[in-house]
Amino acid sequence: MRDFNDKVALITGGASGVGRSLAFALGRRGAKIAVGDVDEAAMARIVEDLAAENIDAIVEHCDVTSVDSLGALADAAKIKLGGLDLVFANAGIGAGETGAMWDYSEKDWQWCLNVNVWGVINSIRAFMPRLVASGKEAHFVVTGSGNGAYLILPDAPIYTASKAAVHAITENLHYQCQAGGLPVKVSALFPGPHVVDTGLFNSGRVRPEALQKDVQGNESGINSVEDMKKMAAEYGIELQTTHPDEVAEMAVQGLQEDAFWLLETTAETDAKIRARTEMILNRTTPVPAMVG
Ligand SMILES: NC(=O)c1ccc[n+]([C@@H]2O[C@H](COP(=O)([O-])OP(=O)(O)OC[C@H]3O[C@@H](n4cnc5c(N)ncnc54)[C@H](O)[C@@H]3O)[C@@H](O)[C@H]2O)c1
Repeated sequence: MRDFNDKVALITGGASGVGRSLAFALGRRGAKIAVGDVDEAAMARIVEDLAAENIDAIVEHCDVTSVDSLGALADAAKIKLGGLDLVFANAGIGAGETGAMWDYSEKDWQWCLNVNVWGVINSIRAFMPRLVASGKEAHFVVTGSGNGAYLILPDAPIYTASKAAVHAITENLHYQCQAGGLPVKVSALFPGPHVVDTGLFNSGRVRPEALQKDVQGNESGINSVEDMKKMAAEYGIELQTTHPDEVAEMAVQGLQEDAFWLLETTAETDAKIRARTEMILNRTTPVPAMVG
C-alpha cells in the first residue's frame, strides 16, 4: 500500500506506545484512525492529541478479549470513518511473571493468553471477513515479538509462549491470504530493534479485576523501562531503548513495500537468531540468550 491518504486504519491497543505512534504516523499521512483500547486515561489523552493535529479519528473503548467488542469497533469505523483498509492487531500485555513457571498464578497465564493470543484470534475473526468482503486492497498487521517468534528468551515464559503462538497464527494468516489470492497483505510487526520505551512493562494498569494475581512472591519488580535499565546495569549491561515513533516509521515504510517482516534488528540479535538456528541444526542443548 503506497498511499495512506483517506484510508481507514484501525489500531487495537492504539492509545499508548507503539499503537499510539502508528496512529500519528498514519494520521499525518492522511489516514483516518480508529483506536480501540481499554486504558481510559490514555484514550482521553490521544483524543485530544489527535484533534490537535486535525487527524480524523475515533477512539473507542474496545477490549480485544471480546470478539463482539472488536466487531463494534469495526462497525463504528465504517459508520463514522467510511470503511476499513488497515488493521493493526497490536494490543498486548506483559503479566510481569518471574520465577518458576509452575508457581505462577493461573491468572497470569489466563490474562496474558487472553489478550495476546485470543486478542489476535478475535481480531482475525472480527476483521478478516469484513476485509475479504470489501474486495479492496487491505493490510492486516499483527504486532508480535522476536521473543517467541524467533528467540526464546528465558525471563518471561508466559509472554514468550503467547508471542510464539501469535507468530504461528500471523504466518499462517499470510499463507491463507496468499493461497486464496486475496488482496489482503499480512505483515508481522516486531517492535525494536531495542526494548521499546512504552507502557508494556506497566501493563498492570489495565489488568482486569477478575484476573488479579492470586499468588504472591513472583512479581518481577519491573514496572517500567527505567526499572529494566536499572536491573540491566546491575549485570553491567547498558540497556539500549527504541522510541515507539521509530517503530511506527519502520512499519509504515515496510507497508509501502508490502513487506511481511516489519522487522529491524541489531547485529547482536542477528547473531542470536543464527546461534539458535545452528543450535537446532546441530541438535545442541539450548542455552538461554540474553535480553537486549
Ligand atoms: N515495548 C516493547 O519493547 C515491545 C517489544 C515487542 C513487542 N511488543 C508488542 O507491542 C505491542 C504494543 O505494546 P506496547 O509496547 O506499545 O505497550 P503499551 O502498554 O504502551 O501499549 C499496549 C496497549 O494495549 C492496550 N491493551 C491492553 N489490554 C487490552 C485489551 N484487553 N484490549 C484492548 N487494548 C488493550 C493497553 O491499554 C495499551 O494502550 C504489544 O503487542 C507488545 O507485546 C512490544
